[in-house]
Amino acid sequence: MGIKALGYVVIETARPDKWDEFLTQVAGVMRAADAADGAAQYRIDARPFRFRIEKSGREWFQIAGYEVEDATALKALSERIRNAGGSVHALTAEEAAARGVQAAFRTSDPAGNGLEFFYGDSIADTAFVSPLGISHFVTGKMGMGHAVFSAPNFHETLAFHRDVIGFHETDMPAFHLMGPDAPPMHFAFLHADNGRHHSIAFGEGPVPPSGAIHIMLEYPNLIEVGKAHDRMKALGYAESASLGQHINDETVGFYVQTPSGFDLEIGCDSLVIDPARWQATKHETISIWGHEWAWQKAMKEQQAEAAE
Ligand SMILES: [Fe+2]
Repeated sequence: MGIKALGYVVIETARPDKWDEFLTQVAGVMRAADAADGAAQYRIDARPFRFRIEKSGREWFQIAGYEVEDATALKALSERIRNAGGSVHALTAEEAAARGVQAAFRTSDPAGNGLEFFYGDSIADTAFVSPLGISHFVTGKMGMGHAVFSAPNFHETLAFHRDVIGFHETDMPAFHLMGPDAPPMHFAFLHADNGRHHSIAFGEGPVPPSGAIHIMLEYPNLIEVGKAHDRMKALGYAESASLGQHINDETVGFYVQTPSGFDLEIGCDSLVIDPARWQATKHETISIWGHEWAWQKAMKEQQAEAAE
């Protein structure tokens, strides 16, 4: 039992050209050859793709794909999901090959968040070269980064990810985002069997229209984070949270809204944990400094206008 890391994401969009600009010109991600079915694919390292962008009529975060050890682990996981009442849809050999994996299946958590699990990953036969000269993204055993979702049925969804899938609790906060008297909002930050603080997380709340809260890519240093921030402004993308540092995974970075509506967290210097010895924490706040969220800024502006 256990999950190795986040392998890839699949996104549906009506505006693949906008996603292409966003990934290559803001994020500095490399475009790879299109998939046989026409989906656009993007790399951040040796893996054949980390982003699969499918043209569709909607803006939707379709899948976060996580890797398991081998065929036995994949089969055992599919059985645990079925026994827990979940649905398991095996990818065809052709679909798995298009993912660059030996085998995979699709499922969803109790909040409806789309997940795939696979084994037998592959590497591309050409080198990763960022179109913007970023030396590398921090991946390797820690995977692509992390994906963050929402779950109105928080506790049921947590039980699924922890007890059925095999993610482990890293930080289990209850944030008072709406003031000290409002009910707290639970969050679960869960790690896979690697050093990344969390490979998946979700907050208590309705699933947003785009299907996800954010995904995170880890850049090699603060210079590259700052340059990405400049590119966001130069190309007119909306900042969802200003530069700041998280208390739990120590990531320094900012959030930019993707063309599909959810955010991309662009960060660096993330904490590396020892997954075998980690004791779950319970933080009271999100950030050590910074991270002014767009909704906080809008509220402040409204209050200032009302006071005039
Ligand atoms: Fe994040």
